[in-house]
Amino acid sequence: ERIPATLIAGDGIGPDITASVTTVLDALGAPFEWDKQEAGLGAFEKEGTALPEKTLESIQRTGLVLKGPLTTPVGKGFRSINVTLRQKFDLYANVRPTQTLVPGGRYENVDLVVIRENVEGLYAAMEHYLPSGNDPQAVAYGAGYNTRTECNRIVRFAFEYALKNGRKKVTLVHKANILKILSGLFLEEGRRVAAEYEGRVAVEEKIVDACAMELVVKPEQYDVMVTTNLFGDILSDLTAGLVGGLGMAPGANIGETMGLFEAVHGSAPDIAGKGIANPLALMMAGSMMLAHVGRLDLSQRLDNAMKHIIEVDGIRTRDLGGSATTEDVTQALLRAIR
Ligand code: NAI
Ligand code: MG
Repeated sequence: ERIPATLIAGDGIGPDITASVTTVLDALGAPFEWDKQEAGLGAFEKEGTALPEKTLESIQRTGLVLKGPLTTPVGKGFRSINVTLRQKFDLYANVRPTQTLVPGGRYENVDLVVIRENVEGLYAAMEHYLPSGNDPQAVAYGAGYNTRTECNRIVRFAFEYALKNGRKKVTLVHKANILKILSGLFLEEGRRVAAEYEGRVAVEEKIVDACAMELVVKPEQYDVMVTTNLFGDILSDLTAGLVGGLGMAPGANIGETMGLFEAVHGSAPDIAGKGIANPLALMMAGSMMLAHVGRLDLSQRLDNAMKHIIEVDGIRTRDLGGSATTEDVTQALLRAIR
């Protein structure tokens, strides 16, 4: 049975890495029927909008998206399409797994998942200036918000994720000692939800700064972590750095009925068009997409193939200290799958 899915190649290295991923997924027998759509700077230059109506309609229809990175111009231009998509389609959970795949790094046994609340918190960016004396911009004032409903929903998502994926522990990451209300509400709802899973999934609480330190010293102790938007943004880049960097970090944006799968990294303009980008981050996102539609068998085969080309074939793109091209990775994966 074919499953319609929206494919957005994106900007910069996007076309190279999406081509690699769809080639491998198709060879694997993935059930996706790609509906190619445009978004980002390329769409903006061609059609005058970075998020064409046709693309939105396709996403609405399929509820399933594989997306390459999109360039967001700094300053003038349009606002981040990534943030727009998350809010528009209520993609409230950002799932970012981190696993040691490349041996010989600093950490041999990292296997954790950061689950980041994706639509509220300090990303609300409710900011303005306050005057003082002659200076109309003397004070920068900023606020965010967390709702009880959303805190409950994201922590519940984390516990359900843990159950479904055979994980043992969920860590609630907060700053409720200082932000007693903003972060306190998250912790309060977190404890309430955790109580419902007692005996099935263990729970632990960590203050975000101490957590950052422990992630660097002993990341192996973490399993599933759940936290609010800005903390999750920062911690998930940190965890990517533990296992080889952005070329190895996938992300899934999940809503009640939709899923958008991407790499954590951006369009990498410095290496765009050179054919040397690491496609593995987006490849792992493709594997998450297979699991999302219930094809755990294919997801597992793809994960095994990735392990094989790294551990046995020793394939490394430039970001991992090697000289393999994007195409080398694609071909190695095709061989590993057969
Ligand atoms: P970036 O992630 O594109 O690049 C940072 C560094 O990592 C660069 O040196 C790049 O060459 C390297 N890198 C990233 N992905 C790689 C890969 N797959 N293989 C090998 N090396 C890789 O971050 P930057 O430069 O800050 O942003 C570039 C553009 O991407 C900006 O317009 C930004 O707004 C956008 N962006 C889009 C995201 C998305 O679509 N989800 C996420 C982050 C940034
Ligand atoms: Mg970020």
